[in-house]
Amino acid sequence: MAEKKDLDFTYTTIDKIFRLSIGETGDYSGAKYDGDFSMSLEEAQMAKHKFIADSLHIKKGSKVLDMACGWAPFTNYITKNRGANSIGLTLSKGQAAACQKNGFNVQVKDCRTVKPEDFGTFDAITCIGGLEHFVTIEDYKAGKQEQVYQDFFQTLNDLLPVGGRFYMQTMTFSKNMLPLEEISVEAEKGSASHVLALMIEEFPGSWLPYGPEMVINNADAKNFKLISKSSGRLDYIETIGQWRKKFRKFGFKKYALYFKLLMRYFTDKSFRHQIEVFKVSPNRVCFEDEIMDHYRLVFEKTA
Ligand SMILES: C[S@@+](CC[C@H](N)C(=O)[O-])C[C@H]1O[C@@H](n2cnc3c(N)ncnc32)[C@H](O)[C@@H]1O
Repeated sequence: MAEKKDLDFTYTTIDKIFRLSIGETGDYSGAKYDGDFSMSLEEAQMAKHKFIADSLHIKKGSKVLDMACGWAPFTNYITKNRGANSIGLTLSKGQAAACQKNGFNVQVKDCRTVKPEDFGTFDAITCIGGLEHFVTIEDYKAGKQEQVYQDFFQTLNDLLPVGGRFYMQTMTFSKNMLPLEEISVEAEKGSASHVLALMIEEFPGSWLPYGPEMVINNADAKNFKLISKSSGRLDYIETIGQWRKKFRKFGFKKYALYFKLLMRYFTDKSFRHQIEVFKVSPNRVCFEDEIMDHYRLVFEKTA
């Protein structure tokens, strides 16, 4: 699993810049345009929240666990619009502090190992853009990837009643994924090998499932049946385009933070590699070239 320090690079480093650009409770995961790109990013994120809340039958008083909650956009939606009680979990200290400041019940905790003794059981659970971080390259090389997913679905099984629903969305590798040994930061700029290497730098300690089937099969092994599946690849490309505009939009506080990062850029070589992602947006290229896809999955516990 990606460790706290890895996730702190990705999420705590950009915490303030993110909130100044996307909003205090902004979503850092693909929106749901369903191909209608006349929608604003905010409308498409709201459409996603509504779809998830409806799919999971979330209503007044529902107890929901928002795993990998980020800056708590979904928790915000279901508390305000459905009257639900939500607990959010993240591994980023910066995110948790921001969420708590905004009045949400969010804790720094590994969601993969939550037990009923921790918070009781739940009516519904979400994991929006979290599964990407559960498997490391080392896990993959050691052949442990599927076991990690099975253990995760066992955790979910322990936390939900029969008939309880779970929503997740995750990036997956797709038909043009390369073998690991062909991925190199030294490869020609813009090549699949190079953009994948940048992806690895952007999300240290993270590796993706090989298609949605890998997740669905391991869910099935722990008594979760698939209720719905849809690809959000094209919607994610649009989401990233909108994020980039918002990240670039001028603001004094934000540009002062960019300046600080720039200082680190000149003095820290590994940070230089990591920050490349803001210039190239490797995940967008990976979606466009079908090296990666993105799936929204709704599951129900059957036993
Ligand atoms: C791409 S963000 C998605 C955030 C949020 N769900 C959203 O849609 O905006 C990924 C989140 O996963 C969290 N995360 C990754 N692995 C985790 C784990 N094992 N336990 C809890 N949170 C985790 C990170 O801290 C981060 O908040």
